[in-house]
This record gives sequence, C-alpha cells and structure tokens, in this order.
Amino acid sequence: MLRSALLNVMTSAARKAGRSLKRDYGEVENLQVSMKGPANFVTAADRRAEEILHAELTKARPGYGFLGEEGGRREGSDKSHCWIVDPLDGTTNFLHGIPQFAISIALERDGMVVAGVIYNPANEELFAAERGKGAFLNDQRLRVAARRRLSDAVVACGMPHMGRGDRVIFRSELAAVQEQVAGVRRFGAAALDLAWVAAGRFDAFWERDLSPWDMAAGILMVREAGGFATDLDGGDGFFTKRQVIASNEFLHKALLQVLKETRK
Ligand code: IPD
Ligand code: CA
Ligand code: CA
Repeated sequence: MLRSALLNVMTSAARKAGRSLKRDYGEVENLQVSMKGPANFVTAADRRAEEILHAELTKARPGYGFLGEEGGRREGSDKSHCWIVDPLDGTTNFLHGIPQFAISIALERDGMVVAGVIYNPANEELFAAERGKGAFLNDQRLRVAARRRLSDAVVACGMPHMGRGDRVIFRSELAAVQEQVAGVRRFGAAALDLAWVAAGRFDAFWERDLSPWDMAAGILMVREAGGFATDLDGGDGFFTKRQVIASNEFLHKALLQVLKETRK
C-alpha cells in the first residue's frame, strides 16, 4: 500500500504515542491513577499519549483544530480541519493488563471524517483508512466478513457499566440479539471493535453512549472495508445520538431490525 502524506503523519503520530503507552503499560501497576467518574479512569499514560499526539499532529499540520478526550477541544486557525482523538481507548483493559486497547485518530474535513488510524501498541496492529482509498491492517487490505445469516454471526457490543448508560435498554437488546446469533463478545475498546468489524473478525458491532473519539476513525474504517455503519435508526447521527451499529450489507439490516423490535 502506498500511504498518502496524511496517513503517514497520522501513523507516525500514533506509533510515537504508542511507544509511550506501551512503556506505561509495562509499568501499569505503578501508574498514577485518578478517577474521572465511576469506572472511568484517567491515567497519566492517557494524558501523556494525548499530549504526544497533539504535539505531533500540530507540528505536521499547524492550524488544524484538535478534539481530544482528555484535553477537550482546542480551536485552530484552520476551521475546516479537526483531529478527533482518543489517546487510549480501552482504559479499563489497559489498567487491568488486558492487551486490548488502542489510540484512535480521525481527521474531520468540513464536517466529514476523511481519514482514520487505530493502533494497538500491545500487538502492533495498525488499522488505517482514507476516504475513497480503502482500509488496511498493517498494509493488508481489509474487507468486512461476508456472512449473510445472523445465526452464523459473531456480534460484538458495548456494555454499560456502573454509572454509565441505560442498562435496561442494553439488557433487552442483548437478550434479543443472543436469541439470533452464533456468539456475542464484549472486548472493551470501541475503536478496536469497529476496526475488527472492518477486518472481518467480528461480523457486527453495536453500542450506545459513545463519544466521537470512540467511533470517528472506526466508522470510516468499516465503510472503507465495504461495510455499513449507521446510528441505531439507520441514519448518520452518530455523534448527536452517540451510538453506532456496524456490519456488512446483509447483517446490518437484519441486526438493526432485531434492535428496533426491542423498542416496540
Ligand atoms: C470506552 C471503551 C469501551 C466503551 C466505553 C468507552 P475509554 O472508552 O471504548 O469499550 O464501552 O463506552 O468509553 O473510556 O476506554 O476511552
Ligand atoms: Ca474511548
Ligand atoms: Ca479514552
């Protein structure tokens, strides 16, 4: 794969921040941990990674805006471009020594996500996509899974926990999905869940109460791998409704229907 200058900027920033995260992951027990809310930890590693990403991306593209989970929005002089960054997606996994976490970087141009990189420094898997140019895992082209029947599908989800989200809605959705599919998974890093749909490992994924930095890069990844990604009403209101469902063209419709039925 011949990478564009833009993807080179994004991947080298992700790798640099990834080296910092990986070092901290090795010392996870000594990390200074503060509580942002129930079960939502902000680690020193998290903040360090975001600062590296901000410095690297701003050095390469001065003037672009920056929206990061830790530091919030930093306006730039260029109002048409904004980075959307989660420096550490899968914080709970990270703190527990579970190697399923990632850096997620998306670039929004005039309100549209045009490039995304999701990097897991624990296993060095780097997912990259650019609008109209496909999605790749370490230079190998990605394609969503081809399964057509829910009964063959492995479906990933996000699960609201202490103080987060609507557990009643989630349980009714989970109960409905469980009845129809071959397996359900909850791995705890939404950006990677979406990247794994793009890679055809998961047949589908849905989650509510997500933030833009959890999904921006992953949604592009799924679409560039030939998949479908929408909100839970089948539209594009990901960031306002804070939800996503992603799959291939066959299962997307079927799963959307299963979830809709639970609201009747
Ligand atoms: C979380 C993860 C998790 C999802 C949560 C997110 P964080 O992000 O993506 O899988 O279920 O809703 O907040 O806090 O680890 O960056
Ligand atoms: Ca996140
Ligand atoms: Ca995070």
